[in-house]
Amino acid sequence: MYSEKVMEHFMNPRNQGEIENPDGVGEVGNPKCGDIMKIFLKVKDDRIEDVQFQTFGCGAAVASSSMATELIKGKTLEEAWDLSNKAVAEALGGLPPVKMHCSVLAEEGIHKAINDYRVKQGLELWKEKPGASHAHADDACEI
Ligand code: FES
Repeated sequence: MYSEKVMEHFMNPRNQGEIENPDGVGEVGNPKCGDIMKIFLKVKDDRIEDVQFQTFGCGAAVASSSMATELIKGKTLEEAWDLSNKAVAEALGGLPPVKMHCSVLAEEGIHKAINDYRVKQGLELWKEKPGASHAHADDACEI
């Protein structure tokens, strides 16, 4: 059911762990399956210097977190904000349709962590861009 890349990231997740004194934290959960993802950011000069994740969830959620953190490390906050769950799924060689919603957790977790950072800096919250085709984490959730 899963691509080789998904299995590889699930078995050897990158950036799994916690950052002490993070600059931003985002926690999201899928109410239907109960899976939870937490994203920790270290930000320097508007760039993601370090990112770690903790995911208590299915294989697709773990692989998506791993791939998403790889894709945003070293990127500007704006570039990280623009990472869609579709791009994460594509980088993983695709996810089965019933598992696409799992990758949404990564996108939402990153957005929450970035906005947590922005609040702490006294900056305005970023909003989803108009036209962004964001699915929701609990869309079509099948475990
Ligand atoms: Fe819950 Fe994948 S995130 S089934």
